[in-house]
Amino acid sequence: MNEKPFNPGEQPPRGRFITFEGIDGAGKSSQIAATVELLRARGIEVDQTREPGGTPLGERLRELLLHEPMHLETEAMLMFAARREHLAARIEPALAAGRWVVCDRFSDASFAYQVGGRGLARDKFDALEAWVHPRLQPDLTLLFDLPPETAAARVASTGVDPDRFEREQRDFFERVREAYLERARQAPQRIRVVDADRAPELIRADIERIVRESLPT
Ligand code: TMP
Repeated sequence: MNEKPFNPGEQPPRGRFITFEGIDGAGKSSQIAATVELLRARGIEVDQTREPGGTPLGERLRELLLHEPMHLETEAMLMFAARREHLAARIEPALAAGRWVVCDRFSDASFAYQVGGRGLARDKFDALEAWVHPRLQPDLTLLFDLPPETAAARVASTGVDPDRFEREQRDFFERVREAYLERARQAPQRIRVVDADRAPELIRADIERIVRESLPT
């Protein structure tokens, strides 16, 4: 057997982990696509993914989470179960191989929706987060902030049947928004609040600047 000797110098630098957050209808999707394009144009290898989902099992859990009524703690645990799988099967290997991961939502969404929106006990969220990713946090999180009524109008204008979350009332989304902003105040370096109630080109320019400043290559 002629195995190559272990050479730590050959390991690629770890990739960066960028997440996008915001209430339903915040307009993340097109901006995520633009950001991935921007990074690829800079020669960066990017893995684009989403939560809940991102793996075959995660996508099956997503179907249940979006459509099947359930207890709020079941919902929180399934979100983190899907996340555990996603981290092990996709996110961690990509980062270790030097690829960047751009993910539509991560644990900040569990804080905002399950703790803020549903009223899950904070210590239960903390326990799940400490269990599933004790050391990892995104390198950068872009939080799309806008009034719930504007977001609701955008969701309605798609004409697509709303899922279990999108059917929630405005006060639910007020709480989700407030929880997101609270989380941003706790981690202002990592979570950058983007005013999403503006023209897409302005939002895009903001994101481009934030990504360049926060994660220079
Ligand atoms: P999406 O519509 O942005 O793909 O997200 C699916 C829904 O799941 C969205 O309404 C937010 C919700 N969600 C949570 O409640 N908790 C979580 O941890 C995640 C990742 C998403």
